[in-house]
Amino acid sequence: MDSIIVKGGTELRGQIPIAGAKNACLTLMPATLLSDEPLTLTNAPRLSDIRTMTLLLQSLGAEVQSLNEGRVLALSSHGLNNHKADYDIVRKMRASILVLGPMLARDGHAVVSLPGGCAIGARPVDLHLTALEAMGAELELKDGYVHAKAAGGLKGGIVDFRFASVGATENALMAATLAKGTTVLNNAAREPEIVDLAQCLRAMGAQIEGEGTSRIEIQGVDRLGGATHRVVADRIEMGTYMLAPAIAGGEVEVLGGSIELLGAFVEKLEAAGVSVTPTKDGVLVSRKNGRVEAIDVTTEPYPGFPTDLQAQFMAMMCTANGTSVLEEKIFENRFMHAPELIRMGAEIEVHGGTATVTGVERLRGAPVMATDLRASVSLILAGLAAEGETRVNRVYHLDRGYESVETKLGACGANIERVKEE
Ligand code: UD1
Repeated sequence: MDSIIVKGGTELRGQIPIAGAKNACLTLMPATLLSDEPLTLTNAPRLSDIRTMTLLLQSLGAEVQSLNEGRVLALSSHGLNNHKADYDIVRKMRASILVLGPMLARDGHAVVSLPGGCAIGARPVDLHLTALEAMGAELELKDGYVHAKAAGGLKGGIVDFRFASVGATENALMAATLAKGTTVLNNAAREPEIVDLAQCLRAMGAQIEGEGTSRIEIQGVDRLGGATHRVVADRIEMGTYMLAPAIAGGEVEVLGGSIELLGAFVEKLEAAGVSVTPTKDGVLVSRKNGRVEAIDVTTEPYPGFPTDLQAQFMAMMCTANGTSVLEEKIFENRFMHAPELIRMGAEIEVHGGTATVTGVERLRGAPVMATDLRASVSLILAGLAAEGETRVNRVYHLDRGYESVETKLGACGANIERVKEE
């Protein structure tokens, strides 16, 4: 497995382009299952998670062509011939569960492996399943698989989510587009990736109102057609690279993306003393003098502070002036980066879902291990500010969600390289 070696202490200067959003693309791709006609996605990111979703859709009989060096995905489900999403693929990526709603809605049956837990928490799929049941699906859990049926098709229903789950909202939204009658999703997630999905579904002919609010209403239609849709920019990648000059010092223009989609994150960054200035093509971020200030953060559903930026923000707080309290409210076990940051000299105490970080003057490079996607990138960011060499091992998690990190940071002057290993 590859490692990334960072030698810290260099200020960053330059521009970093932002790719299409992984999390949007992973829900847009299964939308192909709703229609016989082609779906073309532009601005797709080049990531291993996208390749995993490609393999999953191909295993169902869908065609997925990667064009323009992976920037364009041409999908078609006219030849769908298998309705079973196998454990071997699903276990690699939780977002695989997103094929369930569309397959069931179009053809009235689907069998999908349960994704199981993952490093950051138990992550059940009960909300996905109860939403589909509210639309008349009959579900049976057998041998680790969800067996779903809807004889005569799904019917519109009222779904009251106990928690505003992103994935469950996406699954239910896709399924409802082909259900007979009206479906209302209450306490729906409001993330920009859901807005992006709704826009794509609408281009395919779906009737949807209220995306981006906590009440989405869908009027089912008989069939959906083809569409071409541009994947929204990745707000988490954007936030991650905004933290790079904040941590290492210097000035970086992050190109593409919109800071409006970053919710509470931008306020927190500014409160820490980082300068954030919108430009014609993106946003200019700089920290020129001294240390950032310690700031408390609580992760929340959108538009609150995103859990997917918590690890990276913690990396910044490690060298802040003062003590900050970070509360993780979305996932129960998402502080696995803390022990690794401590190996680099950080002062962090974790109690349940709360981490207290007391800033130190300087981190020191160390060999560290990446345990999940956002944790991996937080260790790279920390390495930018550390004295000496940081070696981040097992970076395959990183490749699931960030394309060419070493090229993007390297272009801004960071001393960073990937070491290939057998
Ligand atoms: C998505 C994102 C992920 C992000 C997360 C929260 C994708 C591919 N992934 O994940 O990067 O961190 O949103 O913003 O878009 N839950 C249940 N039952 C369910 C579903 C979820 O209890 O049926 C719980 C989860 O265990 C978790 C919380 O709800 O504690 C949030 O999960 P959810 O919003 O569903 O996240 P994902 O869609 O899996």
